[in-house]
Amino acid sequence: MANLSIVGIGPGLADYVTPVARKAVENANLVIGAQRSLALFPNEISGEQIVLTAKNLQDTLKKASEAVKADKKVVLLSTGDPGFSGLLHTVLESGLFSIDSIKVIPGVSSIQACAARLNISWDTAKLFTFHGNQVSDEQKNKLTDAFQCGHTIFLLPDQKEFTPKNIATFLLKTGANPKTQVYVCENITLENEKITQNTLEEIMSLRFGSLCVMVIKQVTNAGELIW
Ligand SMILES: C[S@@+](CC[C@H](N)C(=O)[O-])C[C@H]1O[C@@H](n2cnc3c(N)ncnc32)[C@H](O)[C@@H]1O
Repeated sequence: MANLSIVGIGPGLADYVTPVARKAVENANLVIGAQRSLALFPNEISGEQIVLTAKNLQDTLKKASEAVKADKKVVLLSTGDPGFSGLLHTVLESGLFSIDSIKVIPGVSSIQACAARLNISWDTAKLFTFHGNQVSDEQKNKLTDAFQCGHTIFLLPDQKEFTPKNIATFLLKTGANPKTQVYVCENITLENEKITQNTLEEIMSLRFGSLCVMVIKQVTNAGELIW
């Protein structure tokens, strides 16, 4: 019997929260999530709640595992989809929960919302996340490979280590065409949503908000975009 539900809440707008996610929150004894995630459920939370922060993450996961052991229904809210750069990875890595006690409720990822906004069919695109501590040389090499193979790339930047500017600098150093088209989708589905289209070289002098997805489009020798 699953007792920890990791619930995807979509890219931000309440309309993207699924009925299944709302039901899980309604039935939970304990709901854990960032402030802006909890705010998406003004009428559903009747049990205890914990505001999740970067600082209390490990302690909160311990509390969640104790609650699960006490047979409580615990919901952990994860932005977008829990399986892409989301809390599923964190929970699995913690080693605090048996796999049988975990249930994932999918949500609309920021990547999906972004692909939809740009009318991109993403079945051959390459997805990357550099969010958090995931800026390894191995990941950077995979990014270079994907770029050199001509793939369309969806990428979650890191606000500190690997911003859109850092990424553009990195790709240009590896020989990327400076005229490569880049979309930066900020705050997708939210009131302050903004989508900008620039070239890689233009991105070098621009700054973007923390909530953004970068989409790199390739150009053929004839100058056509590869979709
Ligand atoms: C911890 S990751 C979570 C990703 C999430 N699991 C998903 O599937 O979208 C957080 C990053 O996702 C991206 N993100 C999440 N919501 C977004 C939105 N509404 N608009 C643009 N980017 C978003 C940003 O790059 C943000 O830094």
